[in-house]
Amino acid sequence: MLRTHTCGELDAKSIGLEVVVSGWVQTTRDFGKFIFIDLRDRYGITQISINSESTPEIYQTAKTLGREFVIQVKGKVVERSNPNPQLPTGIIEISPSELNILNSSSVPPFKIENETDGLEELRMNYRYLDLRRPIMARFIELRAKTVRSVRKYLDALGFLEIETPNLIKSTPEGARDFLVPSRLQKGSFYALPQSPQMLKQLLMVAGMDRYYQIVKCYRDEDFRGDRQPEFTQIDCEMSFVEQEDILQTFEGMTVSIFKEILGIDLPAFPRITYHEAIQKYGSDKPDLRFDMPIQDLTNTIASQLKSQVAPFGVFQNTIDKNGIIVSLVASQAAHFSRKEIDQFTDFVKAPHRGMSGLIWVKWNEDGSVKSSVEKFFTEHELKTWLEQCSAKPGDLLFILCGDIAQTRKVAGELRLELGQKLGLRKNKDWSVLWVVDFPMFESDPETGEMIFVHHPFVSPHPDDVSLLQTEPLKARALCYDLVMNGNEIVSGSVRIHQSKIQNQIFELLGLSESERQDKFGFLLKAFQYGAPPHAGCAFGLDRWVMLMAGGESIRDVIAFPKNASGRDLMMDAPAPVPNAALIEVGIAILDSK
Ligand code: AMO
Repeated sequence: MLRTHTCGELDAKSIGLEVVVSGWVQTTRDFGKFIFIDLRDRYGITQISINSESTPEIYQTAKTLGREFVIQVKGKVVERSNPNPQLPTGIIEISPSELNILNSSSVPPFKIENETDGLEELRMNYRYLDLRRPIMARFIELRAKTVRSVRKYLDALGFLEIETPNLIKSTPEGARDFLVPSRLQKGSFYALPQSPQMLKQLLMVAGMDRYYQIVKCYRDEDFRGDRQPEFTQIDCEMSFVEQEDILQTFEGMTVSIFKEILGIDLPAFPRITYHEAIQKYGSDKPDLRFDMPIQDLTNTIASQLKSQVAPFGVFQNTIDKNGIIVSLVASQAAHFSRKEIDQFTDFVKAPHRGMSGLIWVKWNEDGSVKSSVEKFFTEHELKTWLEQCSAKPGDLLFILCGDIAQTRKVAGELRLELGQKLGLRKNKDWSVLWVVDFPMFESDPETGEMIFVHHPFVSPHPDDVSLLQTEPLKARALCYDLVMNGNEIVSGSVRIHQSKIQNQIFELLGLSESERQDKFGFLLKAFQYGAPPHAGCAFGLDRWVMLMAGGESIRDVIAFPKNASGRDLMMDAPAPVPNAALIEVGIAILDSK
C-alpha cells in the first residue's frame, strides 16, 4: 500500500509514530522558513509541516506543488505548536522525511472545500472533483452505509435479494417510459422499468415470499429537486401478509437504520388517513415538524354574511359556489410588516396557484385587532374567527377562500412557506408518519377521466368494495405512504391477487380486453396459477439518504446525477448518435422543428 494511515485517523495517540500518508494537496501555505500542506483524502485532512533548514530538499519539492497534486509523505507524527480544534487531526502534524509527487494536477476550476466558489452546474461538469469535497464524500458514505444496513436488516428477516431485468415491457407507474430500440426486431422497443412492480409480483407467484432489491428505476418525467430520471428504490414485496405486516416491518427497518446510522431514536410513527392529511394540511405528504393545521371557517363566516346588508363579495362568492373558507394561524407573527404579508399574498396569487388574494387578521399583543377586511367585519366578528382558530394575542391569521381542492392545496403550500419563514422546519427535527387509506381513483384534472392514484394492482379497501360499483371515486385503497419531514419516502400497497377483482378494476379504468392483454397479459396469465395474497412497498433511497444527510436535493446524494433538464453535464448525455447507429436499429429522426 502507498500509505500506512489515512489523512483522517492520526491523533494525539499517534504522536511519535513513523507513518506514510497519501492524498491530494488542498492548500500549501508558505511562511518562508516553513511550508504547511493540508493533505486531503476522503477520511480527512492532515497537516504536513516542512522545515526549510532541516529538510531543504523536501522544501524545494513542496514549493513546486500545486492544488490537487497527488503526493505521498513519509514522516513522523509530532504535536502541533498551534493546534486546530476544528479538525479531528488538528492536534498533530507530520514532519516528513520523504515527499513523493505521485501525480500533478491542472488547476481545478473551483475550490475543493465545503465552502466552495463553484456553482452547481460547474461542479456537475467536474463531478469527480466535487466528490472530493468532504461534505460530498460524507453524503456518498452515508448512502453506502444506509444500503449496507438495509441489506443486513432484510437479510436477517429472510428476504432474498433478487435482480430483475432492465430491458422489459412498459410498467404502469404513471410516468413516461424510457425506450430502448431493438436491433434484432426493428420497430420494437424495450422499456426501462419505472419500477420492478410487476416482476416482483411475479416473484410472489413464484413463491419467493420475501423479496427485496436495491434497484435503479427510470422515469421520463419533468424534473424537480426531489426527482431524477433515474433513481434508486429499495423495492420490497412479501407474500401471506396484510397491510399491518408491511407497515410494521418497514417502520422497524426505518427506526433501526436511524438508530444505527444517526444514533436517533424515532418514536412510533403516527398514522393519519389521506383525507385527514388533505383536510388538515392540504397535502398527502404533510410536514408535521410543526402543527399549524388548516382550519375551516366556512360555516362561521357564512352565518355572519347573512346578517350583513351588503355581504363581503369575496366570501359570498365562495359560499355561493359551494367553496371553502380556511385559515392558518401563524403563531407570534402579528409583527409581520405589510411588506412581509404582501410576499405571502404574492405567493398565493402566483399563476400556478391561482388564488385571488389572501386575507389577514392581526391580533396584536395589546389585544387590538387589525385586518385587511376590517371595513366589512366588526371587531367582534373578527375575534370570533381568531378564537375559533385558537389564536392568541400576538398571532396572525391568514384566510384563503375558493374552490375546495385548490384552496386546501394552496393553504397547504402557504402552511409550509410560513413554517419556513417562522423557522419551524428545522433540519434536525424529525417527523415520520404513515399516510393510509388513499383513494383508489382520482379524476384526471385535464381530461376528467378516472385514473388510478398509485397503480392498477392496488387492492381496494375491503369495506369499500361495494363503492366500486356505485361511487368509485370514494373507494379507499389498501395503499400507504411513509412521509418524512414532508417528503414521500415510501409508497406501497396490498395487491390484488384475484383475477375477478383485477378485471373489475380494469373495467372501471376503461381498459378493453385487448388493452389488458397487451399491457398486462403475462401478469394476468401468471395470476391464474395460484397467486398468493401479497403486499409490498418501495423506498425512494435517494430521498431518504438526502434527508438523513441534511442535503438540499437528491442530487447531493447521487454520485453522478443529472441536472434539472435531465442532462449528464460531465458526459454530455443525451447526445446525438451517428446515422449508421440509427439505421442499425431502424430509426429515422423526425425534424423536431
Ligand atoms: P412510487 O412510484 O411511489 O411506487 O415510488 C416509490 C418511491 O420512489 C421514490 N421516487 C423517486 N425518487 C426520485 N426520483 C423520482 N423520479 C422518483 N419517483 C419515485 C419516492 C417514492 O415514494 N412500485 C411502487 C411501489 C410499490 O407499490 O411497491 C412504486 O414504484 O420516494
